[in-house]
Amino acid sequence: MSSIFQMGLQYYHDNSNWLNEPFLVTFLAYFMIISGAITFSVEQFLKVPAAYGRFAHTFSTQFSINSKVGWIVQEAPSFIIAVYYLSSAESRFFNSNPRNRLLLMLFSLHYFHRSFIFPMFTKPKRPNPFITHVLGFIFCVWNGYLQGASLSRNELSSSSTFYYLGLVIFWTGAIINIKSDYYLISLRTKRDRKIKNGNGNGSGDNEKTKRDDDYATKSRTSDYIMPEGGFFDFVSCPNYFGETLEWFGYALASGCIGQWAFAFFTFANLAPRAVQYHQFYKTNFKNYPKQRKAYIPFVW
Ligand SMILES: NC(=O)c1ccc[n+]([C@@H]2O[C@H](COP(=O)([O-])OP(=O)(O)OC[C@H]3O[C@@H](n4cnc5c(N)ncnc54)[C@H](OP(=O)(O)O)[C@@H]3O)[C@@H](O)[C@H]2O)c1
Repeated sequence: MSSIFQMGLQYYHDNSNWLNEPFLVTFLAYFMIISGAITFSVEQFLKVPAAYGRFAHTFSTQFSINSKVGWIVQEAPSFIIAVYYLSSAESRFFNSNPRNRLLLMLFSLHYFHRSFIFPMFTKPKRPNPFITHVLGFIFCVWNGYLQGASLSRNELSSSSTFYYLGLVIFWTGAIINIKSDYYLISLRTKRDRKIKNGNGNGSGDNEKTKRDDDYATKSRTSDYIMPEGGFFDFVSCPNYFGETLEWFGYALASGCIGQWAFAFFTFANLAPRAVQYHQFYKTNFKNYPKQRKAYIPFVW
């Protein structure tokens, strides 16, 4: 028995020079870039949306769980794994590399909000397919590990200029993302309040109220209200634009492959969805502003 164990140990020593953490981190980063490219192609060219939220019905919800619970469980690993790296033995590395620590703290902060605060305010209209949450969970474990392991062992490759510029872009993106998310979440409450007050049935006497009441007849689409004002005057999905900006700034501040891989995946995942939402609004709201872009102001 002990000789089998020793043989195993010998095998590990002989082969561990390639099967080690730096190799794994690099492999996972490149695999994330490839997965992002595949996700982008499937969503953008084959027009297959990710099955959650307004597109939850595109996949069977026979096996589904409460969306809020599913959201917390799928997102939390990114937060937990990052906090593990911030507080474990690897954290000694941060004493001589405080910029790495700050980036991982920003990542943790983002995922603390995304996992535990954001879902407290959402008002999901339907459950999401179970498989969507499983895929989200796998991604968050993978990404939590990638960010934690890479930031706690690799020195950043960015210059001070890019580091500080990246931080400014990160915070700008975070503000746009959070403001837009909470505006979207507030829309149903505002609409319900209007209906309760008796001016949300199409008989409102100002143009804005009429537009607010411009719901499509299909019950699925009536869960969605036309967003207006602020960043929404420029793009249909400023929350996605803000999220992309956030991770682009984070990657710029780091300059390392692990952070660029995540920024790329975010773009690849959210850009096609923004295009799908834009199309959804144009199809369902006849007054939808023509000059509004889908994802990037004035560009796309
Ligand atoms: N890094 C990444 O790859 C990644 C991937 C996915 C999401 N995220 C981020 O996670 C956050 C949530 O993403 P999401 O895809 O769920 O965003 P979303 O589809 O825009 O929805 C955000 C919230 O607002 C509600 N909502 C959206 N549009 C509405 C409208 N027109 N009328 C009324 N309610 C509306 C949604 O309800 P329903 O749920 O009922 O539709 C949901 O509760 C965003 O900040 C996003 O950037 C990041």
